[in-house]
Amino acid sequence: MTQPVVFVTRKLHFNAAHRLFNPSFSNEKNDEIFGKCNNANGHGHNYEIEVTVSGQIDPETGYVIDLKVLKDIVDRLIVEECDHRHLNFDVPWLKGINPTAENLVVAFWNRLAGSFKQGKLHVIRLYETERNYVEYFG
Ligand code: NI
Repeated sequence: MTQPVVFVTRKLHFNAAHRLFNPSFSNEKNDEIFGKCNNANGHGHNYEIEVTVSGQIDPETGYVIDLKVLKDIVDRLIVEECDHRHLNFDVPWLKGINPTAENLVVAFWNRLAGSFKQGKLHVIRLYETERNYVEYFG
């Protein structure tokens, strides 16, 4: 019998620094486009990441995915790698990426995709501030 499909979300937190700039732009153009975000030594954010997995409810456990499992995967692959780091320099799999929220959420998707045995990755929402967030559905 087909089970209902439910969306399960875990929210996690990390602090990180970044600098937004495009090395192919002049200094003037980087300042014009990125403003304060182009500060040479970077600046910090309190990031929130929400990862949603969808799937049919397992009739035996009542779960789509054990939230502890979801938390551990995001912790290990994203939070432990990015927390208290400078995203332009310290995270090998972000090298060469201009770390806007848009580029980060796609990189996080590529890193998480394929990690779930239960359910499947549906959306990642990345908050750069309380009011600004981006979403990627893969
Ligand atoms: Ni920023």
